[in-house]
Amino acid sequence: MKTMTNADLAQRAKEILVPTYSHTPPIALVRGKGARVWDVEGRQYLDFLAGIAVCGAGHCHPAIVEAIQRQAAELMHVSNIFLIPPQIEAAERLVALSFAEQAFFSNSGAEAVEGSLKLARRWQWANGHPDRTAIIAAQDSFHGRTYGAVTATGTPKYHEGFGPMLPGVRHAKFNDLASFEAELEKGDVAAVIVEPVQGEGGIIPATQKFLEGLRAACDRAGALLIYDEIQCGLGRTGKNCAYQHFGVAPDIMTHAKALGNGFPVGAFVTTKAIASVLTPGSHATTYGGNPLATAAAAAFLKLLVEENLAERAAKTGEFLMGLLRDELGDLPVVRGVRGLGLMIGIDTTTESAPIVPRCAERGLLLARAGKTVVRLVPPLIITEDDCREAVGILRNVLSEVKGD
Ligand SMILES: Cc1ncc(COP(=O)(O)O)c(C=O)c1O
Repeated sequence: MKTMTNADLAQRAKEILVPTYSHTPPIALVRGKGARVWDVEGRQYLDFLAGIAVCGAGHCHPAIVEAIQRQAAELMHVSNIFLIPPQIEAAERLVALSFAEQAFFSNSGAEAVEGSLKLARRWQWANGHPDRTAIIAAQDSFHGRTYGAVTATGTPKYHEGFGPMLPGVRHAKFNDLASFEAELEKGDVAAVIVEPVQGEGGIIPATQKFLEGLRAACDRAGALLIYDEIQCGLGRTGKNCAYQHFGVAPDIMTHAKALGNGFPVGAFVTTKAIASVLTPGSHATTYGGNPLATAAAAAFLKLLVEENLAERAAKTGEFLMGLLRDELGDLPVVRGVRGLGLMIGIDTTTESAPIVPRCAERGLLLARAGKTVVRLVPPLIITEDDCREAVGILRNVLSEVKGD
């Protein structure tokens, strides 16, 4: 029989898996409930990562488990050439949360981004502007790893060795309106894509002035505005959509991560007028929006509303942010704490990557973001006690870290 310890599984993984992920320290998670997960050796962890901002309702929420089990036993997959009742329900629940009127389901965040970029170019083409093809994205942004999405991603290390990137994509400085305006004034822009709160880039919220100005500049240039809410959306920042903090709506928006609470599913949403340029056969995916994925999405979206997850995230986020500032603010390595709701970054004076495994060794899971930021994106259902426990571990670890 194959052995089942963290170390043995790490050895087997090293032999057999393409080495794109570093498993440091090696932790094989096998069970989860709420904000807790357990490894193969029975060790418990407090999960302030939630599969990277995915399991908003917590691990194995009974309503989502029930929806998936029921749907799996009834009908798991059919082609999109047939009507799929859970897909229609998930779309209705999803668009009810925002400016949007229609949804297209994908299998991942990157595919949702790809679809949104294709839609923007197609919309320009259908409206007599086939020359408007440029996409303007932000420096330090993250949009995924497929070619369109990785080209839009404004972090050069993700492009290394993979060139040439998709033509027609340029980058401007996040939160610097003049830098985006300069690109828009060139007259060739199909769309601008930004994250209302940059996630991987270091938990950096957009400013009110930036989003308002960007909306106006896009309108002047006839360009569409796309928000990538894959990480910051669906309750995470304390509102159903992060852009609602600013009151500045986009034309197209992407979702994924939290949408299936762990079941892989993404979507882009938009208005009927913009969606109308995607005629039958122009864009498609075999699995996207299949019965199983959208049963999970519909179940999560129901919970989001009925259990006021966004409101809970706002309240607990405020508590956690206060606690982090009170308990960690005096540590020399801590430069500051920022974020919105339960999307929080602790900016440090050193590289954040080595801090993450040290927290895991003490039973707290989290991630880095950018070079110097420790990222907290826990399930939205965490309690104040969970926050106290996490901050206690963080204080211990950060007290031992020397700043640069
Ligand atoms: C803002 C944002 N966009 C897109 C993606 C890509 O999503 P996926 O990994 O599901 O392809 C991510 C993933 O981290 C993200 O944070």
